[in-house]
Amino acid sequence: VKMSCDWMQDNCPMLPNSGQEDLDMDGQGDACDPDDDNDDIIDERDNCPLVYNPRQFDSDRDGIGDRCDNCPFESNPLQTDTDDNGEGDACSIDIDGDEVLNDQDNCPLVYNTDQRDTDLDGVGDQCDNCPLLHNPLQLDSDSDLVGDMCDSSEDIDEDGHQNSLDNCPYIANSNQADHDNDGKGDACDHDDDNDGIPDDRDNCRLVPNRDQLDSDGDSSGDACFDDFDNDTIPDALDPCPLNQDIGSTDFRKFQVVLLDPKGTTQSDPLWVIRSQGTELLQTANSDPGIALGFDKFSAVDFSVTFYVNTNRDDDYAGIVFAYQSSRRFYVVMWKQVSQAYWEKRPSKAFGTAGVSIKLVNSSTGPGEYLRNALWHTGHTRHQVRTLWHDPNEIGWKDYTAYRMHLIHRPKTGFIRVVVYEGREILSDSGAVYDHTLAGGRLGLFVFSQEHVLFSDLRYECRGEIYFNIIIISTHQWWKMQLQCKA
Ligand SMILES: *[C@@H]1O[C@H](CO)[C@@H](O)[C@H](O)[C@H]1NC(C)=O
Ligand SMILES: *[C@@H]1O[C@H](CO)[C@@H](O)[C@H](O)[C@H]1NC(C)=O
Repeated sequence: VKMSCDWMQDNCPMLPNSGQEDLDMDGQGDACDPDDDNDDIIDERDNCPLVYNPRQFDSDRDGIGDRCDNCPFESNPLQTDTDDNGEGDACSIDIDGDEVLNDQDNCPLVYNTDQRDTDLDGVGDQCDNCPLLHNPLQLDSDSDLVGDMCDSSEDIDEDGHQNSLDNCPYIANSNQADHDNDGKGDACDHDDDNDGIPDDRDNCRLVPNRDQLDSDGDSSGDACFDDFDNDTIPDALDPCPLNQDIGSTDFRKFQVVLLDPKGTTQSDPLWVIRSQGTELLQTANSDPGIALGFDKFSAVDFSVTFYVNTNRDDDYAGIVFAYQSSRRFYVVMWKQVSQAYWEKRPSKAFGTAGVSIKLVNSSTGPGEYLRNALWHTGHTRHQVRTLWHDPNEIGWKDYTAYRMHLIHRPKTGFIRVVVYEGREILSDSGAVYDHTLAGGRLGLFVFSQEHVLFSDLRYECRGEIYFNIIIISTHQWWKMQLQCKA
């Protein structure tokens, strides 16, 4: 395992900057360097803060200078580039790079050369939220990626996957891992890799190895040495060594979930990705909303550095876990100052300073009922239940970095949130138990707070039988530390 040792020294000791980017290589990280590209235009006013362009031309006036705009003649402030080919979606004739031009492509945003469309609704199977039912409009009112037309929401094991689409309908497996792709999830498959050796006797449970070769006799087979799930990410660096679907913390692609899409008291959240998807910035003073990752989890640890880069406002930010739909998820939300919500209807909403853990189980879904219930510290019938609120009511401070760490073990219903300021524990929920949601997706949450920076996002799958791997990875970790010091 080779790894850069740059992390041993922080080029911006006072600011969270997980990527340690330093474009002009002046030893001052971009996050704290007032002029990253040395073009004498300070970053705040530079339309290409990372490209030397003293003349600042911006033909399409989208705020992104021509020298760094992926569509210089088409206004696209978000710079989305689905196929990562350097040409923005706004000016690309083949957004997903599958060589079917957008206006003929039945999945313009998803690579699908075969263009299969089983239900003939004009939406290709690869991007159809009901691939077997004709639903050209693709409505998905609860934002669970299953179209309303085929969404039964009957989910006996409460893992967020309805019975008809669940690869283990009777055993909660929110991650839906299925390594042999036989339609039966690992959680209910007795031979996860289909090599004819039952899991309990298989020395590589996820990699087919009929020969069971084990040259060093450590009872872990050669075929899965160092990479248990054969996803090419070595176990020591793999956040989910038992799940080939997840090889890194990745929020480069995320789903935006608006929790009050019609309300006009505030704008919708605006998210900006940085540092290869391990850092997100939310810039608007907004209605409640989530930036939701696509990876799915059962037991998980999730930690983020939380930093509010303004002294305006005192509202909510935090994280979402076990997201199953916009009606069902857990949220950790943190308010700076106690305050009544300015809209008194449709329900009482008084938010108390401090960290809360809440269960959202909403009968209405997004809208003003859920909005007020989210603001409120306490219970709102048919909407939100507060599972824990910090009795010390400690709010966050402006311009201060905190590390928020979540532990969720759906099997026992265990939830714990710890917030650190430096090495000090600022707030700790201790053990909180709730069995309602057996896992789901992770996301970042804001409500009425601008300039929230979520950085060094990190998730790790936990709590399964991988004794071996923990030993190997701790060992390798120390080895890497020693190499770096040498
Ligand atoms: C492991 O994955 C690679 C592709 O990355 C594949 O070529 C190989 O066959 C896989 N090994 C086994 C034993 O399935
Ligand atoms: C969640 O909501 C459903 C339907 O509204 C209800 O049947 C269920 O009891 C609720 N669960 C909890 C734990 O509140």
